[in-house]
Amino acid sequence: MNQILDLILFLLPIYVANAIPVVLGGGAPLDLGATLGDNQRLLGDSKTIRGFIAGVVAGTATGGVIALVYRLPFFPDPRMQFLGGFMVALGTMCGDAMGSFIKRRSKVGSGRPFVLDSILFIVVALILVYPLVRPGLYEVGNLAFFLVLTIILHPLTNMIANRAGLKNVPW
Ligand code: CTP
Ligand code: MG
Repeated sequence: MNQILDLILFLLPIYVANAIPVVLGGGAPLDLGATLGDNQRLLGDSKTIRGFIAGVVAGTATGGVIALVYRLPFFPDPRMQFLGGFMVALGTMCGDAMGSFIKRRSKVGSGRPFVLDSILFIVVALILVYPLVRPGLYEVGNLAFFLVLTIILHPLTNMIANRAGLKNVPW
């Protein structure tokens, strides 16, 4: 497994992208109100255009600041690291929306807890950044670290956001 600091700095843009819509989201839904044949919304009101863009921008900016001050070993060159920040931020927001898509198809209401909520965003982020990184990033120890940390942190931070009055539900 790589240095813990490297792994955490790699994860930071993903976590920022995932968290920022709670604060900056709102307004028109990403699916523009569309429903599918199952009479359920495509994504639902919780996935907003502003939240999606805010997540991508904030995650990319976080990755950019990290790239300026710290060279992550997973990227073959520094330019890839900047682009990587954008790819993981985009992947995070797409994975988050895919989670909602699956929830709506499974008739799970917006804001209801669901296992995929805690994990799909990071899986999609890891897939999107794959072409930019050294394959060693996907060694089993690293993946285990990413998944276990995320499964612990995601519910925990949601609970804190709820206590802080940022989120209506504690998950
Ligand atoms: N959010 C947003 N735009 C996004 C993603 C999230 O505005 N693209 C905001 C919404 O205010 C949302 C909050 O962040 O309520 C929490 O996001 P999340 O937990 O992912 O949404 P849920 O309310 O759980 O909805 P869903 O059931 O669709 O996952
Ligand atoms: Mg949720």
